[in-house]
Formats: sequence, structure tokens, C-alpha cells
Amino acid sequence: MTQGRLWGGRFDEAPDEAAWRLGVSTDVDQRLWREDLAGSRAHADELARVGLLEPAEHDAIRSGLTAIATELEEGRFPWRDTDEDLHGAVERRLIELRGDVGGRLRAGRSRNDQIANDLRLWCAEAATSLIARTRGLQRALADQAEATADWLCPGYTHLQRAQPTTLGQHLLAHAWALDRDVGRLVDARERTLATSVLGAGALAGLTLPLDPARYAAALGYRGIAPNAMDAVADRDFAVELLSAAAMLAVHVSRLAEEIVLWASEEFGWARVGDAFSTGSSIMPQKRNPDVAELARGKTGRVIGDLVALLTTLKGLPLTYDRDLQEDKAPVLDAVDALELVLPALSGTVASLAFDRERLAATAAGGGALATDLAEALVRAGVPFRAAHERVGELVARLEREGRTLEDAEPHEVGSELFELDDAEALLDPAQALERRDAVLGPAPARVRAQLALLRQRLDADPVEARQPPLPLDLEAEAEA
Ligand code: ARG
Repeated sequence: MTQGRLWGGRFDEAPDEAAWRLGVSTDVDQRLWREDLAGSRAHADELARVGLLEPAEHDAIRSGLTAIATELEEGRFPWRDTDEDLHGAVERRLIELRGDVGGRLRAGRSRNDQIANDLRLWCAEAATSLIARTRGLQRALADQAEATADWLCPGYTHLQRAQPTTLGQHLLAHAWALDRDVGRLVDARERTLATSVLGAGALAGLTLPLDPARYAAALGYRGIAPNAMDAVADRDFAVELLSAAAMLAVHVSRLAEEIVLWASEEFGWARVGDAFSTGSSIMPQKRNPDVAELARGKTGRVIGDLVALLTTLKGLPLTYDRDLQEDKAPVLDAVDALELVLPALSGTVASLAFDRERLAATAAGGGALATDLAEALVRAGVPFRAAHERVGELVARLEREGRTLEDAEPHEVGSELFELDDAEALLDPAQALERRDAVLGPAPARVRAQLALLRQRLDADPVEARQPPLPLDLEAEAEA
């Protein structure tokens, strides 16, 4: 029987059962079969080109690989306990299907360059998919922001009401964070595809006349790794994907945390749609934002995946060490988690029904306009230090009387801060928003401009996300 083990000639004894089971990796690496077969096709073509496969042998191998792809696609590939890894399984099956010619395909390659290639291609695909899903979440946020561009909303620091903002601005803040994640995923993908590693062999290149450039071109790489030892030892691309994924997961988690707060009765900002809420098995009245909680919860494991891979790598001598077999599980785990979370959270965001009145009422409270009063005093010539002090004293006096800035009459504020002849306008939250109309401010017109900018990026090639959204152009600013 053909073995799914690609070594053994130099041993007298068969592998120990426990040692074998420790080494088997098919449960994980079978998910890289598409990439592995792409590499094998390119390799068969290269062997044929240099005359190491006869045309008939080349045809037999190519058609055998196609048959294997179909079996894998249809879930009827016959995996065996004696297959050590994906590479061993494919070679074993190729020989079963096409005979001894299948044994020729291993010439001129090693599992070390093979698995490095497989994982690179897989990571690049995963980045493309995560980019699309992140764009989906940004779109859900943009749609909500469009509907709420001019809704008053309290802005927080320290989770204390600080200054008024617009709900559109608040939602877009999350969308812009995600835009940087898209930039990082694009970076990770582009660097992953920058260097092809096939031809590195085990670590020292090949004595056969195979051309690394042809592998690179066939597989969609932009260039070739300059050093075979680095090529088989390098897992930076997997770390870069995981670190972009971890940062993305942290942003997802911060948004999720806010959704949980907003959905609470205490905040009362928004109701999560039925389809994205869950009930309690005991408390009939419950309506829980589980999707947001799970999004927050999965972030822990994505961060763990990044740390796991870095830890695996940190002590490894060059070049390939079997520890590297542990690189795949964290990468797959993190990508799987985000592939589940991103669409579910996008739907949750789209389902949010915000309470405009409640937001406006809370935005106006809590002394949110105290800064506006102090800045108005500055416009009237008072040094900010003194203005801050005087408004603070006014707030403290009102507090002693059991009142707030919002309860105070404009003329009362005006007489205490006598430089202010427009106290009424200064205490109107809607006007407070209109005043904040510089670039990056929450004024409704600025939110709409941001939204247009974001939409442009969402519709463009994600590679654009590597550029800053607003390049500094002082001349254009001066003309405007
Ligand atoms: N299954 C291995 C991995 O995932 C493939 C490379 C094995 N190389 C070796 N020299 N044993 O890393």
C-alpha cells in the first residue's frame, strides 16, 4: 500500500504510534489544499518545461491533480490515518490514481518551501476576504451615519458626558478606525505576495534547473525571495496578517462594547433588531445583545492567536523547525473568528434603531456646553485660564443650588459672565454643533463631507486605503 509518509527509507523501525499522532497535521493543513494543488500544478509544469517530465507524464500528473481537486472539493477525498500531512496525502493519492509517475512530482521541492508557499497564498486570500467583510461593516456604519448626520448626541470622555457631537460623527469614528484596518490588511497582503518561495527547496535551493521566477509568475507573486534560508524560515507574513486581524478585532470589540452600552436601559440609545438579539431561558423580558458580546469575546482569542504565533517563532534557529507546523492553527482560528463576527456585527449595526429624542435630551445635559462658554469668553478677550476658572465657579455655584448649567437662564449666565452678550445662542446645543464646523468637526455639514470621502474609499480599490484620507494641502485649504 502506498504510504502518505514522504520518508522512511533510512529507518528500520516504523514510527511509534504516539509520536506519529503528534506529527500528523492533516486535520489543519487540509484546509490549504487549493493553495497546495496550485503549487503542485506550477511545479509539474516547470518539471515538464525543463524535461524532467515527459509530455505524457506531465499530462498524467496534471489530470491526476485535477481528479484530486474534485475529490477534495466534493468532500470525498479518502484521507488515511497513515497520511502525515497534506503533501503526503496528495502524493499518496496521485500514485493511487496514476501509478508510479506520481512519485516524480517530488523532485525539486521540499515540504519546507511547499508549506511556506501554501500558507502565503492562503493568507493573501484571507486578507482579501477580511477586507471585503470589513468594508461591509464600514458600509453599515456609513448608512446609519447618513441617516443621523445631524442628530445631537452626547460625546464622552472618561465615560462622562463631555461635549455635544452628532450621532453621525460618533458612528463614523468607528468606520474610520476600520479604514486603517483595511490599509493594514492590504499592506499585509501585498507584502505576502511580494515574495515567492518555491525553488528554495529544503533550505539551500536546488541542483535541478528549475526557475523560481516561473513559479512566482504562475502563482501571482510580484517577485522572488532573495534568500532560500529566509524563504523557508520566514513567517512574518502570517504574523502581519494576525496583527492586522488583532487590531481589527480590537476595533470590532470597542464598537461592540458601545452597542452593549447603547442597548442597555441605562443608556437607552438604541434598540438592537430582533434578528440580532437573543432571549433568556429564564427571564421572559430579556433582550440581549449577544452578537455584540460575542464579537467582544472573540477578540480575546484573536489576540491570543497573534501571541501564540509570535511565541512559537521567537526561539527558532534557522531554518525550518517542526515547531513551524504550529503556525497554521492560530492563523486559521483568527480568520475564522473574524469571518463569523464581521457579517453578524454588520447586520447588528444595520438593525440598530436609535432614539433621537433621548440622544438629544442627554446631549444637552451634564454641562456639555461649559467649554463653549469658556471659548466664547476667549473670543471676548479673556485668557482661557481665567475663563475656565470662571465657568467652573459658575457650574459649582449652580450645583450647590441643586441646579445645572442647562437649568440656568441665559441672562443669569450672561450677567455672571458679563462679556457674553449671546448666552442664549451659546446654551443652545444645536447651535453648539454648527459652531464646530472645522474639518474633522461634528457639524452636520462636516459629517456629510466625511461621509462622501468615506464612500469614495469604500467604492475604490482597497489599495487606496494605504493613503491618508485627507492629504495635507494647505493651498487648497487657503482657497476654500
Ligand atoms: N507539515 C509540515 C508543516 O506544516 C510541512 C513541512 C514539513 N517539513 C519537514 N521538514 N518535516 O510545517
